[in-house]
Amino acid sequence: MLLVTGGAGFIGANFVLNTIATTGEPIVVLDALTYAANPANLAPLAEDPRLQLVVGDIGDRPLVRSLLEQHQPRAVVHFAAESHVDRSIAASDAFVRTNVMGTHALLEESRLFWNQLAPQSRDRFRFLHVSTDEVFGSLGPQDPAFNEHTPYAPNSPYSASKAASDHLVRAWHHTYGLPTLITNCSNNYGPFQFPEKLIPLTIHRALAGEPIPVYGDGSNVRDWLHVSDHCTAIGTVLEGSRPGETWVIGGNAERRNIDLVHTLCDVLDRLRPDPVGQSYRRLITFVTDRPGHDQRYAIDARRLRDQLGWTPAKTFEGGLEETVQWYLNHGDWLDNVTSGRYRDWISQQYSDRDGGQR
Ligand code: NAD
Ligand code: DAU
Repeated sequence: MLLVTGGAGFIGANFVLNTIATTGEPIVVLDALTYAANPANLAPLAEDPRLQLVVGDIGDRPLVRSLLEQHQPRAVVHFAAESHVDRSIAASDAFVRTNVMGTHALLEESRLFWNQLAPQSRDRFRFLHVSTDEVFGSLGPQDPAFNEHTPYAPNSPYSASKAASDHLVRAWHHTYGLPTLITNCSNNYGPFQFPEKLIPLTIHRALAGEPIPVYGDGSNVRDWLHVSDHCTAIGTVLEGSRPGETWVIGGNAERRNIDLVHTLCDVLDRLRPDPVGQSYRRLITFVTDRPGHDQRYAIDARRLRDQLGWTPAKTFEGGLEETVQWYLNHGDWLDNVTSGRYRDWISQQYSDRDGGQR
């Protein structure tokens, strides 16, 4: 079985649902259920004995120890993190606590567990750390895409905390021999993404008839990958990689933010025309830029393709339309996650920004 941290969040929940559907392997999820989590993401498996959800913190070492001892997983797949750049700029403490200290706690307990396994299980065990392309910093327009040899240059409190966690994982392999794997992926989109991130935020604001905030002049570029393709990449690395290796994962779908938002508005215009009879594009509002905003991310995922045979199954246009349709079909999910504390975040985050300032 697998121990999956952060399995009630966006990518973790997709990974759990996909893995149980495709391989049937039992999973224990350890998740602290922060604001970003939603146990309802796992509702399709609520009665399924192959899934157990344990509510707890990855920094709680006795709890992690007892889960490892009780369930004897063949791998830890580590998604749990504070994941939103803007929140890390507003308040960084939780990022250091979970992403750095929490990963350290998980590594230490995994090392102690792994050390006492029988030789065959020791050889098989893996600690897969799910990380981000943001650890490599920002690219200029003509720079080559990130690959497995790109030096680290994190720019935000979030990416610095993820870079720190990557370094810990690397050191636990180098020093103690723990069989670790690291993946650095580009921007994900798809079902269950919390609407503080650009794509679900745009859909939610458009449907509510509210301004769609685009930072700066909208020229920043991100590479987009559908979450289901990220999940198959993680599965591929888990089964095929040698311990100590790192892998970059991307969708080969670079888009400027403003072009992406235009596309989203156009898809919504087709699928759910605005009752006022105008395009959702009218809601786009340029707002004050994110401090330290990275200009461009891009991924060269050829090594994963050539050595392990992974390529994305979805095109960006197809995946995006499917995603818009998912949010349209799951208005109740959106309503649930956008009540209460979500409204506090939105008003704190955007009240000073709205009004067309750069
Ligand atoms: P998310 O914010 O949607 O979910 C994070 C999950 O971790 C939540 O369920 C939360 O409750 C849980 N969590 C947070 N702190 C915890 C703690 N101390 N103990 C236990 N659980 C805790 O994040 P996501 O977008 O699903 O990202 C998952 C992972 O993938 C993160 O490590 C992130 O850095 C990485 N990543 C994300 C993207 C992306 O585009 N979203 C891209 C590349 C890599
Ligand atoms: O690159 C991988 C990373 O992608 C992950 O590691 C992070 O966990 C994930 O949150 C994501 O980070 P970004 O900062 O790129 O995602 P976000 O959706 O917050 O922003 C995407 C782009 O859109 C970015 O250039 C900022 C911009 N943006 C974002 C918001 C929320 C806007 O223009 N307006 C907004 O309101």
